[in-house]
Amino acid sequence: MAQRDESGDWLGLRASEQPAEPLPSLDLRTDRAHPARVYDYLLGGKTNFPVDREVGDRILTEWPGSRTATRAARAVMHRMTRHLAETHGVRQFLDVGTGIPTGPNLHEVAQSVDPTSRIVYVDNDPIVLAHSRALLTSAPEGRTAYVEGDFRDPEHFLADPAVAGTLDFDRPIALMLVNLVHFLSDEAAHPPVRKLLDALPSGSFLALTAGTADTIPELVAIGSKRYSEAGIENHLRTRAGVERFFDGLELDDPGVALINRWRPELDDEPALADHEVSAYAGVARKP
Ligand SMILES: C[S@@+](CC[C@H](N)C(=O)[O-])C[C@H]1O[C@@H](n2cnc3c(N)ncnc32)[C@H](O)[C@@H]1O
Repeated sequence: MAQRDESGDWLGLRASEQPAEPLPSLDLRTDRAHPARVYDYLLGGKTNFPVDREVGDRILTEWPGSRTATRAARAVMHRMTRHLAETHGVRQFLDVGTGIPTGPNLHEVAQSVDPTSRIVYVDNDPIVLAHSRALLTSAPEGRTAYVEGDFRDPEHFLADPAVAGTLDFDRPIALMLVNLVHFLSDEAAHPPVRKLLDALPSGSFLALTAGTADTIPELVAIGSKRYSEAGIENHLRTRAGVERFFDGLELDDPGVALINRWRPELDDEPALADHEVSAYAGVARKP
C-alpha cells in the first residue's frame, strides 16, 4: 500500500505531486528499489524512497558521473521529440515507459512545436500512475492520456479506449521507447517492439534509446551490478545490438549514435564527451 505519515501526506511525494484522492489499492512497494524511482533520484528528482536512494547513492559514489549520464539520457528524449515534430511534422506520440513526470515532459516539448499534438503515455509502475496528473496537462488544442500498461503486452494496452480516443491510427505516430529496453533481454524486448510497429501506419517512426557499456565499461558495469543486486534486471547493448531494433526501418542521420552525438545542435547545452554518456539513440521511419 502507498504509505502516508500522521498528517496524511504521502511519504516520498512532494505536496504538489500527491494524489488528489487517496489511492487505497496502490501498492508502491517501498520495500524494494524501482527503476522509475532510481532514475528519478539520479536525475535529481524527489519522487523516490530510501530504498531507491540507497541504490542511487551507491552508484553515485562509485560513478560520480552517473547523474550527468542520466540527465543526458533524458535530454535526448527532448531532442528526438523536437526533431520528429519539427522535421517530420509528427503530431502523435505513443510513449511507452514514460517514467515519473519530469519537466519538460514529452507533451510539453511536442506541444511547444504544435499545441494540437496528441500523446499517449504508458507505464507499468504505480508511482507513475500516482503522478500521472502531471502528464494530463495538455494544451487545450491537443490531448494527452495516461494508460497503465506493460510494454511486454502491447495488445492489452493498445485496446484501452484512451488509446483510440487520443491517437488516429490512420496517421503517422512516433513510438517512443526511451531508456526502457535496457530493462529487458533481447528475447523479451524485440517481440513487443515488432508488434507495436506492426500496429502503426506507414510513415510512423520509432525513437529508441538503450544503455551501453561501450563508452566507460568499468563504470557502467558497476551501475549495472548495483541495479542487479537491487533486483532490477538490466541488459546493456553494443551499437550493433541497438541497431537490430531498427531492422526494416529507414534510420535518420546520424543513425544509431551515442546520445551525445545524436543531433546535439538541438540542445541549448553544449554536447558531452563520449566518456560522459552510456546510451545509444536512434530515430527511424517505418516505410
Ligand atoms: C529509466 S525510466 C525512463 C523514463 C523516460 N522514458 C525517460 O527516458 O526519461 C524507465 C521507465 O520504464 C518503465 N518500465 C519498465 N519496464 C516496463 C514495462 N515492462 N512496461 C511498461 N513500463 C516499464 C519504468 O516503470 C520506468 O518508468
